[in-house]
Amino acid sequence: MERTIGFVGCGNMASAMIQGWVQAGISGDQIIVSNRSAEKPLKIQKTFGVHIGSNLDVARSAKWVVLAVKPKDIENVLDEIRGQLTSESIIVSLAAGMTLETLERKLDPSTKILRMMPNTAAALNQGVIACVKGRNITSVDFNETEELFKKLGYFLPIEEKQMHGEIGLSGSAIAMFYLMADAMGDAGVTLGFAKAEAIRLAAATMSGAGAMMLQSQKHPIQLKDEVCSPGGTTIEMVRSLEATGFRNTVIEAVLAAATKSKALSEK
Ligand SMILES: NC(=O)c1ccc[n+]([C@@H]2O[C@H](COP(=O)([O-])OP(=O)(O)OC[C@H]3O[C@@H](n4cnc5c(N)ncnc54)[C@H](OP(=O)(O)O)[C@@H]3O)[C@@H](O)[C@H]2O)c1
Repeated sequence: MERTIGFVGCGNMASAMIQGWVQAGISGDQIIVSNRSAEKPLKIQKTFGVHIGSNLDVARSAKWVVLAVKPKDIENVLDEIRGQLTSESIIVSLAAGMTLETLERKLDPSTKILRMMPNTAAALNQGVIACVKGRNITSVDFNETEELFKKLGYFLPIEEKQMHGEIGLSGSAIAMFYLMADAMGDAGVTLGFAKAEAIRLAAATMSGAGAMMLQSQKHPIQLKDEVCSPGGTTIEMVRSLEATGFRNTVIEAVLAAATKSKALSEK
């Protein structure tokens, strides 16, 4: 095919993924984008050297056709591009709440479809990309997909029934860390730091904690115990968090996002 990756819709998520791929060495020449309004693709083209075309151009020329429009716009896009896909095309839907079954009903029965849930940290090649495969995806398709998308971060194959949980644990949860960093920023201001400085401190601490959990392979409780000295400051922080129901707040927040995802998919 003429291009490797195509995006129908060139907003926040598409821009993040394009930035991640170009940083990982994929040439902008291998990417084609389309968008409803003209301004966003022109900006992306200027920065990353991608091609711009119509929705039909993207569907015709790219192997992976990423549908990066909002869920409410996806049905119109599917109607529009259906006739342009080839036997090599792989449709990648990012739409939360749109099941494979719904996508399959809208497209030719032989169409290769993947559902993915990325996050914007893909821009820094540190995203999480959960992926569900449709019935026509072969093992070769899936291996090639993994090779390409793991350039954007942690690639996680999941079953479709796990998608609501994935949204709670990762897709939406990125906002929980942002909220926590802002709250830590406010605490920092109370303690005499400039807010931006306090937020940088919080973000660097979160990043380090994530790396420790991923690389040390230790359980988070072990890592927590290792940093709590008897009678010290850290166990005092843990005591305060437990007293205010921190764990349950987190559990409820993850479940709320997963429940909302389920409700959206049943609409
Ligand atoms: N952002 C995230 O963190 C995130 C995470 C996971 C999944 N997702 C999923 O990714 C998808 C895109 O989200 P987003 O945040 O990138 O949204 P976004 O910033 O609003 O981008 C969507 C883009 O689609 C364009 N568009 C709308 N209808 C179109 C059509 N018929 N043809 C071509 N382009 C069209 C819009 O164009 P104009 O507005 O310029 O007219 C807009 O630029 C959604 O399904 C979302 O659920 C997003």
